[in-house]
Amino acid sequence: MTPSNSPTTLFASRISGTGSAFPEGRLTNQELAVRVDTSDEWIRERTGISERRIAKPGDPNEFNSSLGYRAALKALEMAGKRPEDIDQILYATCSPDTLVPSTACWLQAKLGAKRAWAVDINAACSGFLYGLSMADTFVRAGQSKTILVVGAEVLSSFVNWEDRTSCILFGDAAGAAIVERTSSDSPQRILSSHLHSDGTLTDLLGMPAGGSRSPVTADTIALKQNFLQMKGREVFKVAVKTLADFAQTAIETNGFKAEDIDWFIPHQANLRIIEAVANRLDFPMEKVLLNVERYGNTSAATVPTMLDEAVRDGRIKPGHLVLLDVFGAGLTYGSILMRW
Ligand code: UT7
Repeated sequence: MTPSNSPTTLFASRISGTGSAFPEGRLTNQELAVRVDTSDEWIRERTGISERRIAKPGDPNEFNSSLGYRAALKALEMAGKRPEDIDQILYATCSPDTLVPSTACWLQAKLGAKRAWAVDINAACSGFLYGLSMADTFVRAGQSKTILVVGAEVLSSFVNWEDRTSCILFGDAAGAAIVERTSSDSPQRILSSHLHSDGTLTDLLGMPAGGSRSPVTADTIALKQNFLQMKGREVFKVAVKTLADFAQTAIETNGFKAEDIDWFIPHQANLRIIEAVANRLDFPMEKVLLNVERYGNTSAATVPTMLDEAVRDGRIKPGHLVLLDVFGAGLTYGSILMRW
């Protein structure tokens, strides 16, 4: 686990703008129940999800980078910045436009962010927090002043729509944040980030084929190995424990108590996971921000889309303590605490 909250540097970082974007198409539980053997009642009870947004295959307006573009424009506008102000684009996704080049470069071209360097980050559902932590580190090191961090997915392209144990969960979306330099004694800043991964758990969630280890062939397609595969029950158990542990670490490292946190934004994979974590932390659900019912699990996009919504509707106010907490394939984990 790598903590980062050194008070000895001159600079700190803060989020000055957020944005989000979703595909137009909605897929309800009832519609899913026509495709696979499931029901609205089962999905709601076991996951808390009612519907999700699904990008229209092949529609250039709904490519991963196009959703990222729309989210980035909104974040730039809120921050009062232009694309030319961006020093870096950190694009968290595990469902890129193309394996090569990076989705970050597709986005850079769309934005006209000529000064930036751009790179993808693959930490699956934890990607946005990995990106935010990296952005914070680059800013505190004095290397960059303005960084665009995006968490965006079009996982509908990688879901096995015949597998009822996984296809019910996922949706498409993009969220973005502008991370800017501020002084290290500024109250409004990222206070800490804690990241960790456990590569011994790669078999719990992933896509066996499609990379160089197992390129897509007629055989791998027939075996559906180019789609997401998941050991849901095992992931569930690890998720509850690690989300609770990482939230606790963030709170304690900064000398706070759970009741000091104004808003908790956990990865939105399953409402039951979130409720179990809140229960472990003795944290009231009223202070947990949720969008899983409307969008499902949008992987790297769950946290930035939820953050954007709560900033725009005024729930998150200046001075609030906001705790972000994620887990994802890898397995990867992380928490970030910030003063808004
Ligand atoms: O970002 C990380 C992504 N992944 C996750 O976060 C996944 C975490 N895991 C989960 O969210 C849950 O484990 C699931 C939602 C995937 C499954 O819920 P569960 O309560 O753990 O169900 P289960 O796997 O224990 O299955 C219970 C029963 C089984 O039937 P039997 O063996 O008891 O007869 C399943 O076959 O539910 C059945 N089942 C379904 N029934 C209706 C599994 N999926 C479905 C379905 N509709 N979609």
